[in-house]
Amino acid sequence: MDPTDLIKEAVKAQSRAQAKYSKFYVGTAILTNDNKIIHGCNIESAAYPSTICAERVAIYSAVSQNILDFKAIAIVSKESAKPCGPCRQIIHEYLGNVPIYVSDGKELNNYETHFIKDLLPHPFG
Ligand code: THU
Repeated sequence: MDPTDLIKEAVKAQSRAQAKYSKFYVGTAILTNDNKIIHGCNIESAAYPSTICAERVAIYSAVSQNILDFKAIAIVSKESAKPCGPCRQIIHEYLGNVPIYVSDGKELNNYETHFIKDLLPHPFG
């Protein structure tokens, strides 16, 4: 699958973000080894620490469906934000060294490609 197609899936997921406190809308799409797409969006709570990031929603959703092998992840936010610390840890543990495409969801061909070994050197575990 072309990275821009996975980014388009992340844009769909971003439209479902529940981010009324931060107004920072994040969408994620994971491509599984079986070529399934798993979506995730950030979901905020009035009890702020209960908020969960788009990346972990997608990864936990996949794992809960017994899907454990992945090819790539796309992450979309208006500032092309890279994953936060806790999401980097979970990406390291569950996705491994797959390409991480980061995009603002607007200029679809202008995405960044990262790998978790660079985003999270010397990981715990
Ligand atoms: N957020 C994500 O969804 N992923 C990240 O990697 C960083 C932050 C969300 C959490 C919160 O809903 C909003 O962005 C602002 O922090």
